[in-house]
Formats: sequence, C-alpha cells, structure tokens
Amino acid sequence: MAVKIAPSLLAADFAHLANDVERVAPAVDWLHLDVMDGHFVPNISFGIPVIESLRGVTDLYFDCHIMTTNPDAYLPELAKAGVNLVSLHIEAVPNPVRAMARARENGLDFGLVLNPGTPFEAVAPYVGQCDLIVVMSVEPGYGGQTFIPEVLPKIESAREWVESHELSADIQVDGGITPENAGTAISAGATVLVAGTAVFRSEDPPAAVQALRRATRTDE
Ligand code: DX5
Ligand code: ZN
Repeated sequence: MAVKIAPSLLAADFAHLANDVERVAPAVDWLHLDVMDGHFVPNISFGIPVIESLRGVTDLYFDCHIMTTNPDAYLPELAKAGVNLVSLHIEAVPNPVRAMARARENGLDFGLVLNPGTPFEAVAPYVGQCDLIVVMSVEPGYGGQTFIPEVLPKIESAREWVESHELSADIQVDGGITPENAGTAISAGATVLVAGTAVFRSEDPPAAVQALRRATRTDE
C-alpha cells in the first residue's frame, strides 16, 4: 500500500503559511491541520478562518485533527471552510455515532483518534464506518515531542482489525515522526504519517518529505 505523508501545519511559520504550504504541496499527499481550543488540550493553535484562507491557495486534501471539546459542533463550518476529513478524539466523543452522521451529512470524510493511553478497543466498534484511525504517538497539544514507541502494538492491533474485517480505513500515526522511526511505524501497519517538526522545521521541507518516504521504503 502506498504510504501517505501529511505534514502538520502546526510546525510551519505562521507568518508565512501560504508560502510554507505551497512549497511542500507537490511533495506531499495530505495537509494535517491541528485545531486546538486551549480546553481539550492546553494549547491554542488556529481555527476555521485560517483554514478557509489556506483553501484559497491549495487543492491539497485537508486532514483536520480536532482537539477541542464539543468537536461535532464545528463540523458544518469546517466543511464550508474546505476541510476534507475531520478526525475526532474518542476521549472527546465516547459515543461518536452522532458525530459520524453529522460529518457525513456535511460531506466530510471521518476519522477517530486515540490518545497514547487509550486502547484500540475504544474505537474498534466504529472502524467499519471510519476512513481513518489515528494513533497518537505523543500526548496531543504540542509539536516537537518525542515519539512514544509503546504505541506500536496499538498500530498493529488497528492494522489487524482492518485486515481481518476486510475494511479500508487508513491508519495514521501522529507525533514525533522522523526518518529514524517512520519505517517502524509503517512496518507496524500505519499508512499515513503525520510529521510537523521533521518537515517544516527542516531547512528543505520537500527534501525532508522525500527522506521520510525513503525511510518507509527501506524498512518495508
Ligand atoms: C500534536 C499534533 C501533531 C503534531 C505533530 O497535538 O496532533 O499533529 O503537530 O508534530 P510533530 O511532528 O512535531 O510531533
Ligand atoms: Zn495532529
């Protein structure tokens, strides 16, 4: 399966977002957008107006990771702003059925996210209705943290579940991804790699994306 690379805008230069996005766009598959409210997580990042403005400069698939309380309240507006996929934390919506329906009504692809401490079983009943399962490999809230290797068995469980039930959900790993650990995450069963710091804080972001792709091939 082809690996998708989704750079996280959280590590970009917020004074030059359009430039940073246009520079990596030809090299990447998705753009990962971390929306935080200072409540579900301690940090505040950016919100709907920023996403709407970026929609004007790129056709990239917008993968929006929502770290807010009441995440389903924002789905219609996120759809209007040009988001393609929303992923919601199972810790924020323990029963995600209504949120899933709301996402579909608004034409959004849908994902569920697991914090490092949350077991795969929390999302298992819903995987069949999801386009994406996100395994957090850092505590959500901040970029630039170190990958937590203890989440690898959870990626394997997600992969096993998807395959044994003949489902098609992508499995994303988010947090602390570098060329050193990208191969391990892919070998465990991830299909989408989020990388903020490793891409946007490097001197040559498109080359950093290629380094991640190479790392996934070597370890296959
Ligand atoms: C953390 C975010 C991640 C983060 C990844 O809450 O969900 O997407 O931006 O950034 P790096 O790659 O720097 O860990
Ligand atoms: Zn994220």
